[in-house]
Amino acid sequence: MNNYRNIRVTVQENIALITISRPDVLNALNSETVTELLKAVQELEHDPRAHIVIITGDGKAFVAGADITEMNSKGPEEARTYSELGHSLMRAIQNMGKAAIAAVNGYALGGGTELALACDIRIASENAQFGLPETILGIIPGWGATQRMPRLVGTAVAKELIFTGEIISARRALEIGLVNRVVPDEDLMTAAMDMARKIKHQGPIAVSHAKQVINRGMDRPLQEGCGLEIDAFVSCFNTEDQKEGLQAFIEKREPRFKGR
Ligand code: CAA
Repeated sequence: MNNYRNIRVTVQENIALITISRPDVLNALNSETVTELLKAVQELEHDPRAHIVIITGDGKAFVAGADITEMNSKGPEEARTYSELGHSLMRAIQNMGKAAIAAVNGYALGGGTELALACDIRIASENAQFGLPETILGIIPGWGATQRMPRLVGTAVAKELIFTGEIISARRALEIGLVNRVVPDEDLMTAAMDMARKIKHQGPIAVSHAKQVINRGMDRPLQEGCGLEIDAFVSCFNTEDQKEGLQAFIEKREPRFKGR
């Protein structure tokens, strides 16, 4: 693994853990950190040891947003580069052929909520706080929230969050469907690991196909999405894992998936 300055990456039990670590600025994402995250995600995509990826933050925040100090000196062209860099990261997470879980501790504001939105599943600690406060800065979310938030929680709630910049509790995030579950602070990483282990137990190619089909189908009419599902379902039948999974059921034993 690379030596990173602002993140740590470990892989244990086939579960990769990325920890964002700039605690002095509540893990605000400057360009360097976004670039490191992008590199880590690209490496993990091709790392056979990593079946699932968990992303979390060090200290009292998940991520307090894009780095406001860095943005302060940017003009329009640099803003475009910064926005495109963040979008590349979010797209890499969304398109990764492995499930990504955001384990959200403390503040997840602006780019922090956007990072969580790019993941497949969000688990929040009770002290987590979400929000898109960009409009108070005179800007809009620039790393995908105007697109991913309405797809997840509906346009009415997404507009309310973005127009008012209101910071919401983990409970409220659960109510609107922004997070999958809320757990006591001290249980966050255990809950994320438990979820990762459950996913890891399933056929990896099947999980990967399911992720791609769900994501791609969200941008298409129902019938086209169903067509994608048929193609992916058929692809599964070209894998050893499909034979192993069905045979294991018939033989009343646990499957031993090989990811091929
Ligand atoms: N960028 C840069 N520095 C940040 C930061 C950010 N997003 N968030 C916090 N920090 C820094 C603070 O400046 C402070 O640094 P100093 O100690 O040097 O003063 C340090 O982190 C601790 O922060 P606070 O003292 O403010 O801590 P707090 O507990 O009083 O408040 C907070 C916490 C409510 C999260 C507050 O820090 C805050 O409002 N942060 C900004 C949140 C925000 O607006 N995020 C959106 C950014 S824009 C964006 O993300 C655009 C995009 O979509 C691409």
